[in-house]
Amino acid sequence: MNAPTTFDGGMIGRPTPRIDGRLKVTGTACYPSDFPLEDTAYAYLVTSAIARGRIKAIHLEEAQQVEGVLDILTYENTKGKVRKVRAFSGGGYTSTTIMPMDSPKVWHDGQIVAVVVAETYEAAREAAHKVHVEYDERKPKPGFDKRRPQPRQISNPLSSSDPQTGDAETAFQHADVKVEAYYTTPTQHHNPIELFTTTCTWSGDQLTIYEPSQFVHGLKNGVAKQLNMNPEKVRVISPFVGGAFGSKAALTPRTAFVALAAKRLNRPVKLVPTRSQSFDVSTYRAETQHLVKLGADRNGRLTSLHHEGWEVSSRPDNYKVAGTETTSLLYACPNIYTKVHIVHADRNTPGFMRSPAEVPYVYALESAMDELATALGMDPVELRRINDTMVNPIDQKPYSSRALMACYDRAAEAFGWSKRNPEPGSMHDGDWLIGWGCATACYPTNVAPAQARVTLAPNGRARVQTAGHDIGTGAYTAIALTAADRLGVPLENVNVELGDSSLPPAPVAGGSNATASICNAVAMACDEIRERLAQGAVHADGQLAGADPGDLRLSQGKLVAPDGKSEPLKEAIMRLGFGPVEAHAKYTPEIASAPVKLMGHKLIEGGISAMTSGSSVKDHVQYAFGAEFVEVRIHKRTREIRVPRIVGAFAAGRIVSPTTARSQLLGGLIWGVASALHEATEIDERVARYVNDDLAEYLIPVCADIKDVEVIFVPEEDHQVNALGIKGLGELGNVGTNAAVANAVYHATGRRIRDLPIRIEDLL
Ligand code: MOS
Repeated sequence: MNAPTTFDGGMIGRPTPRIDGRLKVTGTACYPSDFPLEDTAYAYLVTSAIARGRIKAIHLEEAQQVEGVLDILTYENTKGKVRKVRAFSGGGYTSTTIMPMDSPKVWHDGQIVAVVVAETYEAAREAAHKVHVEYDERKPKPGFDKRRPQPRQISNPLSSSDPQTGDAETAFQHADVKVEAYYTTPTQHHNPIELFTTTCTWSGDQLTIYEPSQFVHGLKNGVAKQLNMNPEKVRVISPFVGGAFGSKAALTPRTAFVALAAKRLNRPVKLVPTRSQSFDVSTYRAETQHLVKLGADRNGRLTSLHHEGWEVSSRPDNYKVAGTETTSLLYACPNIYTKVHIVHADRNTPGFMRSPAEVPYVYALESAMDELATALGMDPVELRRINDTMVNPIDQKPYSSRALMACYDRAAEAFGWSKRNPEPGSMHDGDWLIGWGCATACYPTNVAPAQARVTLAPNGRARVQTAGHDIGTGAYTAIALTAADRLGVPLENVNVELGDSSLPPAPVAGGSNATASICNAVAMACDEIRERLAQGAVHADGQLAGADPGDLRLSQGKLVAPDGKSEPLKEAIMRLGFGPVEAHAKYTPEIASAPVKLMGHKLIEGGISAMTSGSSVKDHVQYAFGAEFVEVRIHKRTREIRVPRIVGAFAAGRIVSPTTARSQLLGGLIWGVASALHEATEIDERVARYVNDDLAEYLIPVCADIKDVEVIFVPEEDHQVNALGIKGLGELGNVGTNAAVANAVYHATGRRIRDLPIRIEDLL
C-alpha cells in the first residue's frame, strides 16, 4: 500500500488552535538548549576578524589563565577530526563545504576559528575574548562588482539546467511592446528568535545532540559521516524549534565541534552562539540581480521572456536558488530564455530562506509584468489573465491544477480593485498618496518519503510518532487532526511526537513538503489500524459479523458500518489481543521523474530528504498559487511609506489545519512587507563584514507597521499531487508580496523602484 485510501472523518480541515500553543506560551515547551543535563560545560565561539586569508598564529596563554576554562579547540588540535561531507545542495547534508578549523585558512568573516569551553558561559566568553589570533590578511571580495552584470552572449546552446524554449532574442526584437529592466534584492538573514544552539552529550560511544533542526534525520546522518560513526549511534532531539525559515535545514559546521568538545571533556557541552555570530555561523539569503526583458503583442500576449539572474555564493560553493525554474513556467510564452550565474565572493555560503528561489525571482518577474501592463495601458490583473496557462510553456506538461485567476478574482473583489484609478499618483487621502498594487504568489508542491508509527489504545488514546518537525508551522496540529480524522477519536486524545531522530524517519521540514508528506504517512498507518480492527470485527460474533471490512469506518470512538451497526473501539481493539494496536507506514511518492532536483541542484545522496518537486514530476507540474493585493500610503512630504492593507487569496489544495495554515500565510505576507520595505543586511565592503548583525539594526516590521491583513482560501481539490490532495503552503505567502508593494509604490508615486528594500530616501 503506497497511499492512504479513505477520507471521511471530518477533522481534516477543521479550524483548530495549535495544540502545542499552551506549552509554548507557558514556557513549558522544551527547546533543545532547555534540556537540563547534569554537569554541563559551556562553549563560546571565537570567530574570524578577517574575511580572507590565513591564521598565522593563535595565542591561547591569556585565555587559558581565565578561571574555569576547560579546553580550547583550534585547527591545531581538531585538524582532520571532522571529515568533509557533501553539501545539502549537492545531495548531502551540510550547509557549506567550508571546513572551519581544518586548516589555518579563512574563507569568510565570522568563520569559527576556535571554541572555548569552560565551567560557565561567562568564563567561556571572557576567555574567548582573550584568544589572540594573528592573521595574514588578503583583500576580500564582498559580493557583486559595482558594475551592472551584462547579458550573456546569445550564442549559447540550450542548456538543460536553464529552462529555455524558442528564440527569445529575435522575438524580443520584433515585439510590439517591450520592457527591459534590472532588479536587485539585498542580502537577508533569517534571525529566528531561537538561536543556533547545540548541546552534545556522550554516553560511551553513543552521541546525543540537542539542536533546533528542520531535519533531525539529516543532522544525525551528517554528523555520523563527519565523525566517522555508525549513524545508529547518533540521536538528535529537537521537539520544538523557535523559528527556522530554512536556516536549520542543513547541518552547519558548529555541531561537530561541540560533539568533539564533549568527547574530549567527557561531559555535556552546550553552545549558544550570540545573535551577531549567528549571521556568520549559519546561512542567509544572498543578494541577487536580475535582467528581465518582456516582449508582448498589442493585445498583451507575451511573445518573449528573458530572465537572467546573478547570485552571490561563497568561494568554494555553487549554492544557488535558480528561481528561473519557476519564472519560466508561470505564464504562457512561446520564446523563453533563462540563465543563472553565480558570483563567488569571500562570504559564508548562503542557504535556504523561506521560498528561497521564488522570493527574489518572482519579485523581478512580477515587477516587470507590472511595468509591461503600464506600457500596454492594461490592467495588471488582465495581463495575468491573458497570459494564464494550464501547461508549462517549456515542455507543455499540464499543471495538475492551477487556480491562479480564481485567486486574483477573489482577492481583487475583497480588495475593491475595481475602484482603482490606474493613473499613477491619482489617488490620495489628505497628505497621503495612495497606491494599489498586485502580484502573483506561487510555490512548487513538493512531497518526500515519510514514515509514521501510530498506536491506538483501548481507551481511545492515540500516539503518533514520526521524526518530522514543527518549526512553528503548525505541524503538530495538522498531524493530530489527520490522526483524529482517520481514527475517529477526539483531537485531545491524540499525542504527537516529533523532532527526535529515533522516531520513524521523515523528510526535511523544507520546501513546504511536511504536511503533504507526513500526513499521508500518518493517514496510511491509521488506515492500517482501521483495516485490522475491521478484519477482526467481521470475523467475530458481534454486531459487525459478516460485514464487508472495507465498508467499516472509525468514527466517534466506534467502529461503524454504513447501516449504522457499530461496536465500541475498546471491544474492537481488545479482540486483537492485550494492549494497544500499532501500525507503521511508509509513504513513498511515486511521481518522481529521475533525477530529483531542488532549485537546480540534483539531490542524489540525501535519501529520505530527496524531494519530488513541483517542476520535476513525471507527467505534470504541480504548484500552489495565490494573488496578493497591497495598499501603500506614502506621505506627500516626508515620503514615509505605510502598508495599511494587504489581501491575499490562495489555492493550495486541501487545507488540513486552516487556523495554522492561515497563520503561515499571514506570516508570509508580513514577511513580504519586510522584504519590500525593511530587511537588508548591510555589508562593509572593505572587509566583507555584516554590519547590522543584531535585531536592533536589522529591520523587520513591528506591530505598528502592519495593519489589516486578510487571507482568503480558494477551495481547491487536486488528487494528482498526493492521495490527501495537500499542496503545502508554508512558503507560498511571502512570494510576490515584495513585487505587490513595489507595484503599489509605483502606482502611488509614478516612481519605479527596482532595488529592494524601498526606503524613504528612494522616494524623495
Ligand atoms: Mo524552507 S527555506 O525550504 O525551510
